[in-house]
Amino acid sequence: MKLSFSDLEPRHIYKWMISMIVPRPIAWVSSVSPAGVTNLAPFSFFNGVTSRPPTLMFVPVTKFDGTPKDTLRNIEASEEFVVNLVNMPLAETMNSTAEALPYDESEMDHFGIEAAASDHVAPPRVAAAPVAFECRLMQITRIGEAPGIANVVFGEIICAHIADDVLTEAGRIDPAKLDLIGRMGGEDYCRSNDQFTISRKSH
Ligand SMILES: Cc1cc2nc3c(=O)[nH]c(=O)nc-3n(C[C@H](O)[C@H](O)[C@H](O)COP(=O)(O)O)c2cc1C
Repeated sequence: MKLSFSDLEPRHIYKWMISMIVPRPIAWVSSVSPAGVTNLAPFSFFNGVTSRPPTLMFVPVTKFDGTPKDTLRNIEASEEFVVNLVNMPLAETMNSTAEALPYDESEMDHFGIEAAASDHVAPPRVAAAPVAFECRLMQITRIGEAPGIANVVFGEIICAHIADDVLTEAGRIDPAKLDLIGRMGGEDYCRSNDQFTISRKSH
């Protein structure tokens, strides 16, 4: 079978892409509005970019009515955000926060999610997240045309908060303890603790 993307409608292309580019890590992004309302939402078009400088990216698409998602609106105004990573115990709560609440309503308050203060940026992190990256906006690159413009948000990672209970005795990440979830197509997810090792001859 061969898919020719030029013959497909964008919504079908989207469905094919999200079921083939898998598993995708999930950025659970906290941000703050100019009025001080904390926002929290998940994004699975997310990845690391480079370590020099430490950089990540995620992609809030513009809504089909042409308005920005709350996360993008906040980051454009404040230039700060936190990317929280999602483990298995947080999966259902993360999914709840994909609901489109009014701009002046906080997902953290609405769903009773405990926040912890960040050290360098205004948005708080999710206290129970196994890892949280404090980030400063570097640039936003827009790809595509309306409806559904992709706003690729690049952030410099200022610091990472890592829960002590996901570390080995040697102080490294233990993937089994980290137990992150990944997004597959549709409403499917996978777990990152099914691991195997392949040694590399050259580094
Ligand atoms: C697991 C998961 C991954 C998602 N990934 C994306 C994504 O990469 N880009 C996007 O625009 N929306 C994504 N969404 C939908 C947003 O979370 C949703 O539109 C949310 O309401 C945006 O919130 P905000 O308006 O508070 O920023 C995802 C939802 C879920 C549950």
